[in-house]
Amino acid sequence: MEVRWQVDPQGQWEAEAILVFAFEDDDSWPAGVQSWLNGAGQWLAGSLALQDFRRKWQEVVVCYAPETGSKIRRVIAVGLGKRDGFDLDKWRGAVASALRKCRDLRVERPALGIMSLDGLPLATEVALREALIGGLLGLYRFDQLKTKDRDQLFDLTGLELLSQQPLEAAWENAVAHALAVRDGVQLARDLVTAPANQVTPNFLVQTAKDLAKRYGFAVEVIDQVKAEDLGMGAFLAVARGSREPAYMVVLEHAPEGKKDDRPLVFVGKGITFDTGGISIKPADKMDLMKHDMAGAAAVLGAFSVLGELAVSQRVIGIIPCTENMPDGKAYKPGDVIRSLAGLTIEVISTDAEGRMVLCDALAYGQRFEPAAMVDIATLTGACIIALGDQVASIMGNRDALVTAVQELAMAVGERLWPLPLWDFYQDDMKSDVADFKNVGSARKAGSIIGGMFLKQFVSQDIPWVHLDIAGPAWADKDFPIIPKGGTGFGVRLLTELAMRWSALKVD
Ligand code: BES
Ligand code: MN
Ligand code: ZN
Repeated sequence: MEVRWQVDPQGQWEAEAILVFAFEDDDSWPAGVQSWLNGAGQWLAGSLALQDFRRKWQEVVVCYAPETGSKIRRVIAVGLGKRDGFDLDKWRGAVASALRKCRDLRVERPALGIMSLDGLPLATEVALREALIGGLLGLYRFDQLKTKDRDQLFDLTGLELLSQQPLEAAWENAVAHALAVRDGVQLARDLVTAPANQVTPNFLVQTAKDLAKRYGFAVEVIDQVKAEDLGMGAFLAVARGSREPAYMVVLEHAPEGKKDDRPLVFVGKGITFDTGGISIKPADKMDLMKHDMAGAAAVLGAFSVLGELAVSQRVIGIIPCTENMPDGKAYKPGDVIRSLAGLTIEVISTDAEGRMVLCDALAYGQRFEPAAMVDIATLTGACIIALGDQVASIMGNRDALVTAVQELAMAVGERLWPLPLWDFYQDDMKSDVADFKNVGSARKAGSIIGGMFLKQFVSQDIPWVHLDIAGPAWADKDFPIIPKGGTGFGVRLLTELAMRWSALKVD
């Protein structure tokens, strides 16, 4: 779907439909819209005067132009709710409902006027960027595997952007940014929603290689033989139960002139299916465990955006990719495993496999002398119990980094909330035979115990945060800009972090 500008000083644009926005508690229109209403859009006055349009948030009313002469065939009036309480989430959601309405109406190329953004309490380029991101992400649909009635599916073919003024560079950047984010989130959603018989560890490897080829990233694929040589015992323990070959994938975005900078290291959990292993999960809803690679998908999605926008920060992505299966060769409760860091782990539950693969990935990541590390993982059901399924937990070894990441994530519509990593939690993982166990002794503080486990594999010298995305990685119903299924959670926050890193103070 392409985005095309129509610049006409007289405002004589052509469009199948144009979106206009209004607040519930404000009768006026932005100056640019008002002048269009006084001129070419005069036919609309009567319809709006009827007051059908109450301007509630996400309300969408369609007004049809009289057949004679109007170059704009429909006006789609979109409610923004009350001014007080309006924010970027509301804005993205409102545009998303408007574009979905256009899709229902089979409007191929709806239009958005830059002048209609003037009345918003947002900088024009921010309003434009977030409108596109919200609108485009809201149109996402996973339909690749349907064969019946495919011809009934309708997709927008483009979006027209209208302006009377000459284009500004900031607007064009906003469009490029939005399209890159759309592509990155879409990639992550596709990977998460697609089934585990398609998205295997090898499939993630191929996806990483495709990105590397497209954007010039370096890519290193560590197979099980190489992992054995390196001593990645924890990662390999999980991999042993599966017939699918496992891989630790390392992607590197090293922009010209930045090749010797300390990188950001993003680690994403890539369990392409989690049965629980020998500590097998109940059958009910086990199908959803295809999404246990959402952390890996977020890292791959973020790399797509970094490459597309040629972001100037050096970033390394590490994704441990394997299934967690029960098998004659599978690792067992009671086994003691030696991790890459040299620490020994007593396996109490083979279902706590995420931390096993991540601890080796984190240990490996430190070899790159990172400026900071972020891991992102569907790690614990306990996180969903604690925070619900629309919020990820964030933990780390620097309060300033935790706060900075939380703030930048919230601004892009990804909710994070902090949990503490106090030392006393460590006692719960004491083992009689190894350095520690892979779970706590009771079902207490499950998400924190996951974080505490990982913390032991990160040097105090390296700023680090752990994101437990077990909740928001998957949507079990439709949300304003997130249709049911894989959400692509994390793509935007990782991208933002990379783009803003050089200006952040976290030490
Ligand atoms: N992948 C799961 C966590 C999960 C659960 C993600 C639900 C998304 C939705 C993880 O590997 C797991 O099984 N965690 C265990 C940890 C326990 C054994 C300490 C859990 O949450 O029960
Ligand atoms: Mn598990
Ligand atoms: Zn898992």
